[in-house]
Amino acid sequence: MKHPDEDHARAELDADARRELESAFGVTEAAPVIPEAEQQEQASDDAAARADAPGDTQEKKSESPLGRFADTPLARELSEITRRRRALESEELPLPARTRVFTVANQKGGVGKTTTTVNLAAALAKNGARVLVIDLDPQGNASTALGVEHRSETISVYDVIVNDVEIAEAVKKSPEGGELYCLPATIHLAGAEIELVSLVAREQRLRSALEKFLEESEEQFHYVFIDCPPSLGLLTINAFVAAQEVLIPIQCEYYALEGLSQLLNNIKLIERHLNPTLSVTTILLTMYDSRTNLSNQVADEVRQHFPEQTLATPIPRSVRISEAPSFGLSVISYDTNSPGSISYLEAAAEIARRGAPGSSTN
Ligand SMILES: Nc1ncnc2c1ncn2[C@@H]1O[C@H](COP(=O)(O)OP(=O)(O)OP(=O)(O)O)[C@@H](O)[C@H]1O
Ligand SMILES: [Mg+2]
Repeated sequence: MKHPDEDHARAELDADARRELESAFGVTEAAPVIPEAEQQEQASDDAAARADAPGDTQEKKSESPLGRFADTPLARELSEITRRRRALESEELPLPARTRVFTVANQKGGVGKTTTTVNLAAALAKNGARVLVIDLDPQGNASTALGVEHRSETISVYDVIVNDVEIAEAVKKSPEGGELYCLPATIHLAGAEIELVSLVAREQRLRSALEKFLEESEEQFHYVFIDCPPSLGLLTINAFVAAQEVLIPIQCEYYALEGLSQLLNNIKLIERHLNPTLSVTTILLTMYDSRTNLSNQVADEVRQHFPEQTLATPIPRSVRISEAPSFGLSVISYDTNSPGSISYLEAAAEIARRGAPGSSTN
């Protein structure tokens, strides 16, 4: 069967452009899958992050009834959180006039891509937006965090991009609440990098499916977030081609900026050859700890390089954020008033304001 994008893809991508893209994204006949060693390293990183997360003590303390100790640092912190929560409650967020499609990408592993995708999506849905999360990572972490089934027999994003199944057939409503939907990923997606190589319009398969889905949806989606795997292969190319905006989460730690220039170069290549409307609109600092010099240095450096794109709200390192997925919940449902939840709600509010009709970044 001829794929609808076949002619379009051929016309847009001459042999030189294809070679340039393929070498930048490391696409070969045996395209890269995430090596097992890297996954194990990731798992131990995660364990270390949980063990020494400084947010832990802070959050546990903030659950204590300390109201009468009015002049302690803890009481001040609590009143600051209350102030931020009230400010959020008093604002109604604008909805974008047309669907904003974000790719959440960073080839560095464990920087908070999935956590950011899930919590921003939940925050926007809580504020009345209709939101779709596309889990494009074979690990399926976004599907888990949104409480959506993703056993191997589930119809998933793999069937959409490899077998031409329609997104409408695979999409599930998240039990999280609000108008929040998820296109789940199953383990089959791990083979898709290789299977895609021989398919026509292989860079555009997600875009075609998403365009059709958005056109045919009875009610308009306001946001789509695509959660990428920690690699720059064909799945990530598909995500960049399907989106207008790139959101890069940057972890506030040593080596944070390593690999960023390669990521930005690859995004430029996509913009030049495959998707002229793509741009990096949003950078979010994650796992920020205001008490460490390192976090502050990374934050300053990122803001210096990307003054327009970096959101004012950094996401703090927080045990509540890392616990929430094991309950199949966003931190916003799991512990609404925790600093992590409030920060994601604030970041979502910034994104919504920036995309509002009439905003200069719209
Ligand atoms: N702000 C935070 N505070 C504490 N832990 C966090 C925070 N953000 C993310 N984590 C934890 O760090 C780990 C990595 O986060 P996440 O899975 O979102 O990263 P990722 O970039 O999607 O990873 P991968 O590259 O494997 O897809 C997870 O265990 C997550 O719970
Ligand atoms: Mg992830």
